[in-house]
Amino acid sequence: MSLYSMLAPRGANGFGYGSTAEDVTSKLDLHGKTILVTGCNSGLGLETMRVLRKRGAHVIGTARTKQKADDAAAGLGSQSGPFTGAACELSDPKSVRWCVAEIQSKGTKLDAIMANAGIMALPKLETAHGYELQFFTNHVGHFLLVTGLLAQLTDKGRVVMTSSEAHRRAYEGGVQLDNLDGKKGGYTAWGAYGQSKMANILFAKKLAKKLEGTAKTANALHPGVIRTNLTRHSSLAAIAMSIASPLVLKSVAEGAATQTYLAVHPSVEGVSGKYFSNCQILTPRREAEDAALADALWTKTEEIVASLPG
Ligand SMILES: NC(=O)c1ccc[n+]([C@@H]2O[C@H](COP(=O)([O-])OP(=O)(O)OC[C@H]3O[C@@H](n4cnc5c(N)ncnc54)[C@H](OP(=O)(O)O)[C@@H]3O)[C@@H](O)[C@H]2O)c1
Repeated sequence: MSLYSMLAPRGANGFGYGSTAEDVTSKLDLHGKTILVTGCNSGLGLETMRVLRKRGAHVIGTARTKQKADDAAAGLGSQSGPFTGAACELSDPKSVRWCVAEIQSKGTKLDAIMANAGIMALPKLETAHGYELQFFTNHVGHFLLVTGLLAQLTDKGRVVMTSSEAHRRAYEGGVQLDNLDGKKGGYTAWGAYGQSKMANILFAKKLAKKLEGTAKTANALHPGVIRTNLTRHSSLAAIAMSIASPLVLKSVAEGAATQTYLAVHPSVEGVSGKYFSNCQILTPRREAEDAALADALWTKTEEIVASLPG
C-alpha cells in the first residue's frame, strides 16, 4: 500500500483508490459463479483470479497457452473455487476462436467475462494480420472473444473491459479508422496504446447499447497505475514505475479491485455503458462517449474479424 492509498478518499459505496480486490469481495460468496479472465498468468489478471477463486468462483483463466494458464493457477496453490485453464492468444484468431468453441461446446454459462489481457507502448510499429499490434491484441482479439461468447452469458452476465487512463493519449480523433495498420505514418507508442484502450471503452459503450432491454451489462475501467510486467516494452515507464511505486502507485491487490468490483459486486447490478476508476464512475475523454465513433468502430471491427483467417 502506497502513502497515497492510505490517505485517498472513498466513495459512497465504501470503495476507492486504496481498496483491494479482497476488500471489494469481502462480503461475497461467489460459489456457483463462473468468470472468464483473460491474461490470468500475470499482474492484475493473476490477482483477480486468485481473489475470485478465494471467494469460491470457478475461474476460466486464459493465457497465450494452456500451459501458462495452468502453471499460473498451480502457482497459487489450492483455492476454494475451481479452475479451468484455456489457451487464448489474442493476436491469433484461430486460438481465440478455439477458446470460444471450447467454452460453447461445454455449454458453460458465464457470469462475467473479464477482458483483462493487454500489451502496452510497443516502441516500434508492429502488426498482426495487417493491423497495429496493440489495437489487434487489446481490441480485435477481445472483440472476437467477447462477441463469440455473448450467448454464454447468464441473464445478468457482465462484460468488463480493462481499459486505461492512457486512453486520453490516443491519437487525434480517438480511433483513426483509416489508419489502423499505421501505414499512413505518425506511429507513437502511447498514441497507439491509447487508441487501443479508447477502443476498449467504445466497445463497452456499444455493447451496453446492444444489451439494452436485458439485465446483461458491459463496462470499462482504469485499474490505476501499478508496477507489473506491462512495462516490458517501455524501459522508461519501467524506471518511472520503480521510482514512484512506494509513494503513489497502486499495489497489484489494489489494481485488481475495480475490475473485480465490476464483475461481481451487487451494487453495480444493472449499471452499464460506464467507465470506472477506483470503483467509481469517471468521465472519459470526449471521443470515448461518441456514439457515432462507437458504431463505426464496431462495424469496422466486424469487417476486420470477417476477413481474418481460421
Ligand atoms: N499496470 C498498469 O499500470 C495498468 C494501467 C492501466 C491499464 N492497465 C491494463 O491492465 C491490464 C492488465 O495489465 P497488467 O498490468 O496486469 O500487465 P501484465 O502483468 O503484463 O499482464 C498482461 C497479461 O496480458 C497477457 N497478454 C499480453 N498479450 C497477449 C496476447 N497476445 N494474447 C493473450 N494474452 C496476452 C499477458 O500474457 P504474457 O505474460 O504471456 O505476455 C499477461 O497475462 C492490461 O489490459 C493493461 O492495459 C494496466
